[in-house]
Amino acid sequence: MDITTLQHQLADLPLGKVAYFSVVGSTNSEAIRRIEDGAPHLSLVVADEQTSGRGRRDRIWYTPPRVALSFSLVMRPERIGALSAPRLTGLGALAVCDVLQADYGLPANIKWPNDVLIDGSKLAGVLVEAQWQGDKIQSTVLGIGINVARESVPSQGELDFPATSVETVFGGPVDRWKLLKEVLVALLARLPQLDQDEFIQAWEANLAYQQDLVQLIQEGAEPITGQLLGLDRDGFLKLRLLSGEEKLYQSGDLKLRLVDRS
Ligand code: ATP
Ligand code: BTN
Repeated sequence: MDITTLQHQLADLPLGKVAYFSVVGSTNSEAIRRIEDGAPHLSLVVADEQTSGRGRRDRIWYTPPRVALSFSLVMRPERIGALSAPRLTGLGALAVCDVLQADYGLPANIKWPNDVLIDGSKLAGVLVEAQWQGDKIQSTVLGIGINVARESVPSQGELDFPATSVETVFGGPVDRWKLLKEVLVALLARLPQLDQDEFIQAWEANLAYQQDLVQLIQEGAEPITGQLLGLDRDGFLKLRLLSGEEKLYQSGDLKLRLVDRS
C-alpha cells in the first residue's frame, strides 16, 4: 500500500486528512500528534506495522507487517456530541462486528468493552484515548486493530485470552484494504446514531456472554461474579451479582471473562 493508492481507495468517504505509514510506533500516538497539529475531524492514520501498538493500560497490541490492520481516527468532540465520548469504544467494536457479520457471514460479537470475538477468540481490539485540556475533552482518538491473515495472530504464550484472525475463521483470503474501507463505511454509518438509545441497543445486542455467568477481573482486587444483563445508557456493564443485587460497572481496567461451569 502507498498513500496515493489509499487516498484514492478512500476518496468517496468523508474523512479528514489521511496518512499512511509502512511502520509506525502506534497509530493512536501518531493521530494524537496530528491533533496537536490541528488535524480535522475524521482524520485517519493507517499503518502496515506497529512497533509499539498498545491496548488498555499500555498492554501490548501486536501488529506484525503485511498481515493486520491498524488504524486510528480523530474524533473532535464538538462534532460528535457531548454524550458520545464513552460510546466510541462501542462504535469501533460495533463497526467491526457489522462488517464481519454482513460482509463475511461471521458470527462476531463484542467482549465488553473493547474486543471483537468470533467463537470465543479475539480477532480485533479497540482503544479510545482522550486528550484533555483541564477538565474538558479536547479530542479523542479511536484506534482499531484487526488480525486479518493467520500470521497476525500472536503465539498463545504471549496472550491470556485465545486469539484468531479473520482469514482463519472466514476460511479464505481477505483483502486487508477492502476490509479497512468496509469498517470505515460501517463506522461512518453508525456515527449519526452515537447519541441515541438505538446505538446502545445495537451495542448490547452484539455483546458476547449475554445472560451468562461472568467475572470482572481487576488486578489486586477480588473478582466480581455475576450474570451479564446488558448495558446502561453510558455503556456501563450491568451484572446481577450472586447476592441478587444489580450493579453497573465502568470499563476502567476491568477484564471480562466467562465463568467456566464445566
Ligand atoms: P483481554 O484481551 O485479556 O481480555 P483486555 O481486553 O483487558 O484483556 P486489552 O488491553 O484490551 O486487554 O488488550 C491487550 C491484550 O490483547 C494484550 O494484553 C494481549 O494479551 C492481547 N493481544 C495483543 N495483541 C493481540 C493480537 N494481535 N490479537 C489478539 N490479542 C492480542
Ligand atoms: C485492545 O484490545 O486492548 C485494543 C487494542 C487496540 C489496538 C489498536 S491498533 C490501532 C491503534 N493503535 C494502537 O496502538 N492501538 C490501537
